[in-house]
Amino acid sequence: MLDPSPDEIRRWGNAAVDAVADYLGAIRDRSVYPDTSAREIRTRAEDSLPLEGVEFEKLLQSFRDLIVPFSRHNGHPRMFGYVQSPGTAVAAFADLLASTLNANLTAWRSAPAAVELERLTIDWIRQILRFHEGASGLFVSGGSMANLAALVTARREKASSDLVSKGAHSLARAMRLYVSEETHHSIAKAATLLGLGRENVRVVAVDERFKIRIDDLIGKITEDQAAGHFPFFVAANAGTVNTGACDPLGDVKQVARRFNLWMHVDASYGGFAILANSARPLFAGLEEADSVALDPHKWLYLPVDCGCVIYRNPELARAAFTHNADYTRVMGEKADEAFAFWDYGPELSRRFRALKVWMLLKGVGLKTLGEAIEKDLACARHFESLVRQSDDFEMLAPIELSIFCFRYVPSQWKAALAAADDVSRQRMELELNDLNERLLLALRRDGSSYLSNASIGGRFSLRGCVMNYRTRLQDMQILIDDLRRVAATLRP
Ligand SMILES: Cc1ncc(COP(=O)(O)O)c(C=O)c1O
Repeated sequence: MLDPSPDEIRRWGNAAVDAVADYLGAIRDRSVYPDTSAREIRTRAEDSLPLEGVEFEKLLQSFRDLIVPFSRHNGHPRMFGYVQSPGTAVAAFADLLASTLNANLTAWRSAPAAVELERLTIDWIRQILRFHEGASGLFVSGGSMANLAALVTARREKASSDLVSKGAHSLARAMRLYVSEETHHSIAKAATLLGLGRENVRVVAVDERFKIRIDDLIGKITEDQAAGHFPFFVAANAGTVNTGACDPLGDVKQVARRFNLWMHVDASYGGFAILANSARPLFAGLEEADSVALDPHKWLYLPVDCGCVIYRNPELARAAFTHNADYTRVMGEKADEAFAFWDYGPELSRRFRALKVWMLLKGVGLKTLGEAIEKDLACARHFESLVRQSDDFEMLAPIELSIFCFRYVPSQWKAALAAADDVSRQRMELELNDLNERLLLALRRDGSSYLSNASIGGRFSLRGCVMNYRTRLQDMQILIDDLRRVAATLRP
């Protein structure tokens, strides 16, 4: 088993590819979510420490019998929860090939072809974003790590003292950063990890479309300056996780310029929608950011993990991340070959993530990807029109990209809500929250469609995100039908 012959590898490979084909071929017919428990899965798994090995066929059988039936199927066309990509077959094969080569992308000398491929695909992403030629970056595990890497770089660049050698204690003033109420929590978490302190993460109000309010941003910055703090970083959103809102990037950039802030854009969810004609205008100004976080494992439909950070000036990242050690010393190579990714991000050992990005972009092409993303956007808009035509659902947030937030309001409740006084309305709102939460859980148990949730202005919202080339307009009607069917089984 440790060192199989080529014939054995072929036999295993064929059997594994059969499992892949069977799985993906039947994905539309599966329940999105299994009705199971931790206890059931643990009971089925043989849990004794394996002293002797078993045949490959037995391992594959466990994948078929234990893993597949008790998984949430993220590639299912009605998996609308969270911000979940379906994965692609070509990327699954890329992962197999990357693991076969087992390249470790620390530095050019460790993996020449792989490192070049990462630099090439990062440059393709730079071009997709319309960033200037000097911009560059690297792949990381996901959007959270990309946000962290950007914040590390920004803090080092903007700090008034030498943070790399003297540390945060040397700062005379508290460094403050600005996020909106809708910003993903990974940025506040990164600030905490860096010792910036949660109190120094200022939360800026949003407007009725859930976009950052520029007046409140300016107000908070000037207030902080007057109080002796040091504003240094603003994060704008290109697709928030709750509703998909895109902040006005050009306006945020103007504020950043005026107050000399680092402008970061969290485009982890929305960024690749720039490939879709109808969404492109939302990203005007993105190319002006100092850094951008993206997630190819979201709207490039790739399997986890693959995040990406792009720096306007990569030399600033190098100043923050570079460290000297004997085992990282690069000896006697020309500039291009002396390149090391460890100088631009937090990780040393790194997987060959670029292979799946390269195989996808080269194999599928931007035109088809743009059309698939456009179709996702159309599905979300179609869902909105179905809700607006209905008398038992209502939208809770405008649709900007492919996220839809709505709730179930049985038709008799709608009239009662409109006629109710404040006290009764409040009570009914609480009851509606409860009803929608129960509906969400029942929908998941039902298994035909899967949603997640959000809180919109204190209301419990059902929330869906279309991010799947398999999802069709008809699936949006099926979702509505599923919700009605499941709602009919709930007590009022
Ligand atoms: C806007 C936004 N930022 C950051 C993240 C975190 O990304 P990851 O899960 O890849 O770390 C997400 C995840 O959904 C997101 O939607």
